[in-house]
Amino acid sequence: AAAAALSARLLAWYDRDRRDLPWRMDPGQAADPYRVWLSEVMLQQTTVAAVKPYYARFLARWPTVGDLARAEDAAVMTEWAGLGYYARARNLLTCARAVTDQHGGRFPETEDALRALPGVGAYTAAAIAAIAFGRRAVVVDGNVERVMARLFAIETPLPAAKPTLRALAEALTPDARCGDHAQAVMDLGATLCTPRSPACGLCPWREACQGLRAGLAERLPAKAPK
Ligand code: ADE
Repeated sequence: AAAAALSARLLAWYDRDRRDLPWRMDPGQAADPYRVWLSEVMLQQTTVAAVKPYYARFLARWPTVGDLARAEDAAVMTEWAGLGYYARARNLLTCARAVTDQHGGRFPETEDALRALPGVGAYTAAAIAAIAFGRRAVVVDGNVERVMARLFAIETPLPAAKPTLRALAEALTPDARCGDHAQAVMDLGATLCTPRSPACGLCPWREACQGLRAGLAERLPAKAPK
């Protein structure tokens, strides 16, 4: 199917079945870049269930990036305790201070400018650009790679397949509702197109899925032998 038809089907599924996550705005409402950034940093290497209470406490204590920039280092480290990967917490403060001191308290809107912020890599920059600013950025995490490998039956193992999977994700990204599209692919990977026992019968892409047709879905993406 054409990319536009695939994305439309995915967005219809997302509008109906999307997960109700605390950092998601209501449809049509502009997302707050601070909330998107905070949630995406917390979600790196940490599950949604584990992140939720931390996210709520951070937002209650520091409702804006300016509030966080003025926080004591020790207070932030204490609130972060238990989330792990403590470099993320240190980068969080450094980044909040950079946004405040160098950008007047507003997150920049382009992927390049976002990537220049401390602790913001390619994934986070694309996620903020797409979700908070509606820019056509291609958001690729492990979920997205798995979904693309299955949808297009890419049998090349990871990590060699990464450029191909990114190019496929790029080709599917629509011009409008870019942030919703990105989150929809991630939701698909987290809820239906799971590593084991994918729920292909419920998938909005089941008719188009080449991996399902070839009987390969659950085995993709392949991993290179060690
Ligand atoms: N995983 C990380 N960020 C996400 C998001 N915004 N939506 C769904 N899954 C995610």
